[in-house]
Amino acid sequence: MSANGSPTGQQPTVTYDSPFLKACRREPVPHTPVWFMRQAGRSLPEYRKVREGIPMLESCMRPELVTEITLQPVRRHGVDAAIYFSDIVVPLKAIGVDLDIKPGVGPVVERPIRTRADLARLRDLTPDDVSYVTEAIGLLTRELGSTPLIGFAGAPFTLASYLVEGGPSRTYENAKAMMYGDPELWADLLDRLADITAAFLKVQIEAGASAIQLFDSWAGALAPVDYRRSVMAASAKVFRAVEHYGVPRIHFGVGTGELLGLMGEAGADVVGVDWRVPLDEAARRVGPGKALQGNLDPTVLFAPREAVEAKTREVLRTAAGLEGHIFNLGHGVMPSTDPDALTRLVEDVHARTAH
Ligand code: CP3
Repeated sequence: MSANGSPTGQQPTVTYDSPFLKACRREPVPHTPVWFMRQAGRSLPEYRKVREGIPMLESCMRPELVTEITLQPVRRHGVDAAIYFSDIVVPLKAIGVDLDIKPGVGPVVERPIRTRADLARLRDLTPDDVSYVTEAIGLLTRELGSTPLIGFAGAPFTLASYLVEGGPSRTYENAKAMMYGDPELWADLLDRLADITAAFLKVQIEAGASAIQLFDSWAGALAPVDYRRSVMAASAKVFRAVEHYGVPRIHFGVGTGELLGLMGEAGADVVGVDWRVPLDEAARRVGPGKALQGNLDPTVLFAPREAVEAKTREVLRTAAGLEGHIFNLGHGVMPSTDPDALTRLVEDVHARTAH
């Protein structure tokens, strides 16, 4: 096992033995660990304050600001893991893709990738392209103590969906047209993105991230047969490229109930589940030897406290027989969520699962 994956490596033993990393490894835990996708962000007034006047992508390139934003939800909610504050399009921006994150819209690409000539614009990512990430993670791991830091990247399909469409899409018609119509170009694009993604994750792990999550947020738009034929190899390449570090690898997507088995098979140690499939059923679909992460519907947090507690109990009940469970929402925290509801949720999960 490598440096960061063992108690004798660069990662302190207290971090290695944290409930979050133990649950990822399917070891017994003192309580079910909790963190939230998009826990850093607009739901927090302290985030809105420090982000004021600073565009999203610029904020991702300032190590002190990244450190502060990443720590905010850890301080406020007492979550069991931090997630590095960045965005899935940061490595693409770092290699010179002409994109921006438009407030309220998402990533927008000036000149979408549609042809083989366009593909040539995607060059390799080197650690020097993202030196601010190495610097920020150095600062963060010093501040975090025993709390593990999750590094992350967008999976090839989800990145391709933005690059080919030119922005957010509900149908992915251009991306799918390439996938069905020019499978060679599509495969080459995804392979290119796999290399970029792997390089970006390596930078984060070598700087001190204790786990990584691959976000294939939009893979749920695919039928299993197409996922297996046209997407899975590229995601598997990413997981293989970081396997030797020995850090847990989480694989997440939305609406991926039919893909859970394949997403585990792609090389994940932990499979993220959205709220549509109960965790006991998800475990059957994923099969043995993998932990699960999820899966409270993020909109439940808008209901009264008692309803949130009832749904939390339900998630914990369906997780009772799992080999390893990390409590999370089924997708990211919505910006208008009351932060106090999140803090209460962390306390509630910890109290109900403490032993
Ligand atoms: O706390 C965390 O989870 C870490 C931060 C994080 C961000 N983006 C910050 C962000 C993470 C993990 C992401 C990943 C991401 N980005 C994904 C995968 C996760 C998912 O939600 O499925 C996707 C698909 C993106 C692309 C993206 N970036 C979208 C759709 C948006 C929202 C656009 C909007 O304004 O509603 C962004 C922008 C973005 N990324 C924001 C944040 C906090 C909002 C920008 C802001 O605060 O001004």
